[in-house]
Amino acid sequence: MKTLILAGGSGTRLFPLSRERYSKQFIPLVDDESLFQKTVKRALLFSSPQEIAIVTNTDQTFLIRDQLAEIGCDCLVLAEPAGRNTLPAVYYGIREISDPGDPATVAVLPSDHLISAESEYKTCIRRAERLATDRLVAFGVRPTSPHTGYGYIRPGRDIGDGYLVDAFVEKPDAETAERYVADGYLWNSGMFLFETDLFCAECERHAPEVCQAFEQSLDAAYGQTPSVSIDYGIMEKTDRAAVVPLAADWSDLGNFDALYAVLPKNGGGNAVRGEHIGLDSQNNLIISDRLVATVGVRDLVVIETKDAVLVASRSKAQRVGEVAKMLKEQG
Ligand code: GDD
Ligand code: MG
Repeated sequence: MKTLILAGGSGTRLFPLSRERYSKQFIPLVDDESLFQKTVKRALLFSSPQEIAIVTNTDQTFLIRDQLAEIGCDCLVLAEPAGRNTLPAVYYGIREISDPGDPATVAVLPSDHLISAESEYKTCIRRAERLATDRLVAFGVRPTSPHTGYGYIRPGRDIGDGYLVDAFVEKPDAETAERYVADGYLWNSGMFLFETDLFCAECERHAPEVCQAFEQSLDAAYGQTPSVSIDYGIMEKTDRAAVVPLAADWSDLGNFDALYAVLPKNGGGNAVRGEHIGLDSQNNLIISDRLVATVGVRDLVVIETKDAVLVASRSKAQRVGEVAKMLKEQG
């Protein structure tokens, strides 16, 4: 089976670890491998290196090739001339790796997630493969909070390997998200699996401007295509979707509190990457190449990189995106 890995997004919610040109998926966050490298390794569970393609932007191709070389995987790297969100990225990738009339089954994987439980993951992929003959398959995760940064899926009729999708709602407001959690909706994990012909037909039906743009050269296509995600552009509109519940642990590590949650803790509940001496210090997240000593502090985030230090309260850690924005405004 073919796999398309999306790795062109930028994120600043893990500043100063992540930067506009060095986004979350390329940082070795939980161990010595980046989330991108872990994603490629997961793809290798069901695709050969020749069946894997990475879609990214021109700025990140060198970094990607370096990270692929580190894990010994030589696969196709497709560079977009501009970022136009995930639907053009998927459409471009599908055109490059498949021939019209000769449909291939493709898994589309974001590269900014952490997933554990390999065998469960593989089982879910196999289930989705069976449904993909006539469905666009999403993978659903049981929500743990009314997070407004995710898509929500209402599972409908049981069709054996999964469920028909009754409703797909991308990034609802807080009140709606709370209702969805109570009503048994699933989070959309951002991974999809489908046959290329069905995907192209649904794209033609629901986002024809994207398909039309790609009838020209790549530069012209990216000048013309609207910027739209696969979630808003297709998944919210199609009546051909199914969902496979993903029972593996899944985290999108969207902020430092989420990173703290997945890292191993020492006796005081501190999650440490580096060396730490803590006196009366509990439940802190500490990442530094230098020795960090803390005395009498709890629930802090302390991050040191070559050129910046962040000290934040763990409960406010999602606000570091504002710092990155201020820095950008200051030039
Ligand atoms: N090549 C390319 N080009 N990749 C992109 C682009 C682009 O323009 N934009 C984003 N990506 C990549 C990101 O690097 C990430 O790996 C993946 O596509 C998803 O994009 P995000 O920008 O991280 O999406 P999101 O997190 O806001 O929302 C999606 O993921 C959620 C789960 O984390 C949606 O699918 C939601 O419905 C879902 O719940
Ligand atoms: Mg994301």
